[in-house]
Amino acid sequence: MLRTTAARAARAASRSAIARSIPAPRSPALPRLPRLTRSFSATPHHFASSSTEQQQGGPRLAGQGEKGLTVALGNGAETTFSYIWLRDHCREERSFHPQTKQRLVDTFKIPADYRPSAARTTNEGLYITWPETAFESSYESFFPWSFLAEHAYNPPLLRTKDLPSPLEQKVLWSKEIAKDVPTVTYEEVMESEKGVYEWLKQIDVYGFSFVSGIPGTPEATEALIRRIAFIRETHYGGFWDFTANLEHGDLAYSDVRLEGHTDTTYFTDPCGLQLFHLLSPDHTHSGGHNLLIDGFRAASILRTQHPSFYDLLSTLPIPSHASGSGSASLPSGVHMRPLRRFPVFNHDENGELVIVRWNGDDRGVVGGEAFEGKTMDEWYEALRTWEGILRSDEAQLWTKFEVGTAVIFDNLRVLHGRSSYTGTRRLCGAYVNGDDYRSRLRGLQKQFGEDPRRKALQELLKSRYGVSFVDKEKGGAWEDY
Ligand SMILES: [Fe+2]
Repeated sequence: MLRTTAARAARAASRSAIARSIPAPRSPALPRLPRLTRSFSATPHHFASSSTEQQQGGPRLAGQGEKGLTVALGNGAETTFSYIWLRDHCREERSFHPQTKQRLVDTFKIPADYRPSAARTTNEGLYITWPETAFESSYESFFPWSFLAEHAYNPPLLRTKDLPSPLEQKVLWSKEIAKDVPTVTYEEVMESEKGVYEWLKQIDVYGFSFVSGIPGTPEATEALIRRIAFIRETHYGGFWDFTANLEHGDLAYSDVRLEGHTDTTYFTDPCGLQLFHLLSPDHTHSGGHNLLIDGFRAASILRTQHPSFYDLLSTLPIPSHASGSGSASLPSGVHMRPLRRFPVFNHDENGELVIVRWNGDDRGVVGGEAFEGKTMDEWYEALRTWEGILRSDEAQLWTKFEVGTAVIFDNLRVLHGRSSYTGTRRLCGAYVNGDDYRSRLRGLQKQFGEDPRRKALQELLKSRYGVSFVDKEKGGAWEDY
C-alpha cells in the first residue's frame, strides 16, 4: 500500500498513542539499563540470559553471537535468528498494532548493530530485553517457541511439504457430483453468519455451490451475493440483470454456445467468484443449460498423463484481451489487456496450482519470441489435449438454470459454459473479488471452524519440536500476519 502523508500522520499519531499506553516491562527483575553509546566491539556479544520455570529438555537459548542468537528446540534442533529480525518481528504493542496487525516499528531506524541486553526463556517462549538507546527506551519482547519454530530460517525448521497442500483440502469432482451437488438454502445464508460459512466452505472445497429457495427478484439475488462481500464492478457493470442483447460487446450477452472457460482472463487480477441466477425465462425459452468443469481436476489429469504438455501450459504466457465495442458506459470502447501475459496454469511460490486461466475465445495472437525453443505444433497439441479433457463427457457437469436456484463458482478454479438457447431469458448475477471472498472465508473459519493447515502445523510443531501454541496466540499476534 502506498503510504500517503495523511496515512503517515495517522500512523505516527497511533504510534504515539500506543507508546503512551505501553505497560512497564513484564520482568521487573530485569534492571533498567543505562543508555548505551552507539559503538560496539567486534568481539562475540554476551548478554545476561536465564531460564525460568522450564521443563528439563525443553526449548532453550543455545548461543549468542555478534549478530544473532541461537535457540535449541525440544528435539535439539538449533536455529539462529538475527537481532534485527527479532526486533523487526516484535509483536508487543510498541511495535505492532494489536488491532490492525500492522507493523509500527520503523524497521529502517533500528540500528544495524542492535543487540539485546538480556534474554530469558520459559516453557512458552523467549523473552528479549532491548537496551535503553537513542532508538528507544528499554523494553522486553516475547516470542513463543511455536512462532520461532514456524518462521525459523537459518536453517528453516519447516518445509512446505511438511504440511498438507491446499489442494488436499479440496474435493476434485467429475460429472458424478450431479448425484449430490453442494447446495445451501437462501434462508440459511441470509439468516446467519454460520450459514454464510457453510456456503463458502462448499465453494472452497468444491469450487462451486448452488443456492436454492431464492425469491425470483434481482433484489434478493443481490442481497445474497452481498452476504459474501461487495460486488466487483467491471466494464460489465456491478450487479448484472441482462438478456441476450450483445450489450457490453461480449458473447456472454448472446445466445450462442460457450465452451468451458474462465472469465476475465484479460484482467491482471481475474474475478474471483461469479454468480448466476435465472430470473424469467419466457415460454419460448429452450436450452441454455449451465456447464461447470473442475479445472483443478482437469489440470491434475493433464499433469499425470501428459507432464510435458502441463509444463508447457504452465510456462508459456498467453495474450488475452477484451476488445468489444458497444459499451454505453465506455464510449471509447473496451481495450482490456492484463499488465502481463499469464500461462494457463498458475502456481504459487510452492509450486501449488492456484489459478486456472483459460478462455479460448479471449485469446490474443500467439507467437513471437515466447515461442523460441518451442514449437507451435507442440503448443496446439498441448491445448488440444487440455481441451479434450475439459470436453470429455465425464468432466462436464450440466445443470438446468431454474428460477429460484443460483449457481456460484470460483472463477480461478472452475470453468463454466453454456449450451446455446432459443427464446429469451433474463439472467442476473455478479462478480466478487477473490481476495474479498477468501478474506470472508478466513474470518468465518476463525469464528466457526478451524483452519486445517494451522491445525496440522500445531500438531507438527508439538510432535517434532515439543512446542505448543500459547494462549496469547488465540486471535492474537502470532498468526500468519
Ligand atoms: Fe463466462
